[in-house]
Amino acid sequence: MKRTFLLACLMGAAAPAFAQDVERGARLYTDHCAVCHGASLLGDGPMAEVLVVPPANLRRIARDNGGYFPRVGIAGHIDGRDPLLSHGGDMPVYGRLFSAMSEVMTSPGGDTVLTSPEVVDIVDFLETQQD
Ligand code: HEC
Repeated sequence: MKRTFLLACLMGAAAPAFAQDVERGARLYTDHCAVCHGASLLGDGPMAEVLVVPPANLRRIARDNGGYFPRVGIAGHIDGRDPLLSHGGDMPVYGRLFSAMSEVMTSPGGDTVLTSPEVVDIVDFLETQQD
């Protein structure tokens, strides 16, 4: 009985921590990124016109990189390892939401980094949206 309860708790606690959920990535994108990058990722969110630097078109990342989608590099722009001034630099516009470095992310080239599960999901979502 005790063991069953413990197992149930572990499963319950582990489930939300699993990354690689594109739908969750899409929801996180809508909540935290679309205001600048736009609902269609074209860089035309409602805040775009008040920003000095235009938000990047996130559908063109692979095209601009010769067909390669740099998962690890993109994750760094979101989790703050490679901060963008337009994301708030050391004070990210989305606060500490994506700062839990608890998930290993691997790029097709074999690079691995530690990032947050939410960032893995967002990057997976972005990868599905490339033109
Ligand atoms: C306050 C507006 C704003 C928010 C919110 C925002 N961004 Fe950005 N982002 C920008 C701007 C502006 C740029 C382009 C300028 C730059 O690269 O510094 C950019 C650049 C990027 C880049 C670099 C693109 C490239 O080609 O290298 C990525 C990736 C990115 N954003 C992803 C995201 C994600 C994912 C989120 C949500 C978690 C997000 N951004 C939230 C404004 C924003």
